[in-house]
Amino acid sequence: MRSARLSRVALFTVLLLTVGTTCTSSGGRPGEAARPGAASAGDALFPALGNRGYDVAHYALTLDYVPETNELTGTAVITARAEQPLSRFSLDLAGLSVRDASIGGTDAEVSRKKNKLTLTPAHPLRTGATFTTTIHYSGTPKMITDAGGGVEGWIETDDGAAALGEPTGSMTWFPGNHHPSDKALYDITVTVPEDYTAISNGELTGMRHKGSRTTWRWHMGEPMAGYVATVVVGSFDISTTTTTRGLPVYIAIDPDEVQDSPGMTELIPEIIDWASSRFGRYPFAGTGAIVDHLPDLEYALETQTKPYFEKAPDETLVVHELAHQWFGNSVTPSSWQDMWLNEGFATYAEWLWQEDQGDTTADEIFEAFYDGTHPESEGIWDFPPARPPSAGQVSDSPVYGRGAMALHRLRETVGDRHFFAILKTWTKRHRFGNVHTSQFIELCEKESGMDLTGLFETWIYSKEKPNLA
Ligand code: TRP
Ligand code: ZN
Repeated sequence: MRSARLSRVALFTVLLLTVGTTCTSSGGRPGEAARPGAASAGDALFPALGNRGYDVAHYALTLDYVPETNELTGTAVITARAEQPLSRFSLDLAGLSVRDASIGGTDAEVSRKKNKLTLTPAHPLRTGATFTTTIHYSGTPKMITDAGGGVEGWIETDDGAAALGEPTGSMTWFPGNHHPSDKALYDITVTVPEDYTAISNGELTGMRHKGSRTTWRWHMGEPMAGYVATVVVGSFDISTTTTTRGLPVYIAIDPDEVQDSPGMTELIPEIIDWASSRFGRYPFAGTGAIVDHLPDLEYALETQTKPYFEKAPDETLVVHELAHQWFGNSVTPSSWQDMWLNEGFATYAEWLWQEDQGDTTADEIFEAFYDGTHPESEGIWDFPPARPPSAGQVSDSPVYGRGAMALHRLRETVGDRHFFAILKTWTKRHRFGNVHTSQFIELCEKESGMDLTGLFETWIYSKEKPNLA
């Protein structure tokens, strides 16, 4: 009894000492036993996604891609903080093979099951410890058909590839905590044959030729959710400019789409300037767009700083994807259930743009959605926008159209002055953070001084088509 207790104390001391040498550590309840981090972020719609027990601060991804064979070789260096005493932890990774992994420079035990990569450090990690995990991996990255029927993940194009990660596709090209509640900074370095362009999020910080290959270095210096991380490889015409406030703009257009994309270099800064006046300061250090040629994809994605378009986009789609930089990318839902905070807002941004351009008022668009004459209004009463019933429905029309209608009703109820103040406070208060719908409702009530329970109950939580009294 006594000796057993003694040896446990001795063991604990040894663990503390060993971990202390490889990691900076602080806090943690003394004596709390190390245990595995949960292999789920607890998302109601996507329970298999994400991991707990740690919080990623930074991903350094060094990738080598051969377009001819679609082979990817990667090193992921992930800096994270243990949020509990960790005996082991998991990361999301689909396909690819892991050669080895180390934590704090010491080999870690690697195991794979479904889309989880589990690493066991040589010694448990203490709460508060910052640790660096290095993973070497390679293979042919795969495409995923998601629950909604869309294609995502690593997608080959006619002249390269595009990595698209909403809602789960980022796990096909790098191991990580792929739930939107764990955002991090990124440095993404991609080596491709010299006649290819490799684009990613953030700023281009370097380009180096070596032999017949070119290395492109991209730095994403503000927090990013994994689902809007991207790498796009192909042939591109590059143009750069700045917004009125001097924000760098980087635009890449596939030669096959150049003819159909006139004026992108003027349009992007114009939209950013307009959106900044409506939603508050643009959150990131740069902006732009990637116009690829992948027409079968049939969707665009708000990849951070440079939204991805599968073909030459029309103006309102550019507005939509750039609006996501504020709503979705900077202010990110804590769970996929709250997707309307992305799509309802980006859709309403389209209505506001059209109104400010003098085309049609937001009210006219609202009416066309309400009476079903708007082409995007199909199916908008199928379920309440803040309650998508399944994973396959997070990108369905109620989340977009009826979400936007809810914002329009809010605007009518509180008036323009309060409405735009709410949008600006929302983007400022939660810049680079994660949010729940309840926080939005609270803000609206505080700003307007009104009880808005009924309004939100009717427009985002109830199934029935509301009466317009
Ligand atoms: N977010 C994209 C947009 O608004 C659409 C989209 C693409 C999407 N793939 C998705 C939404 C998967 C939800 C889930 O343009
Ligand atoms: Zn959208």
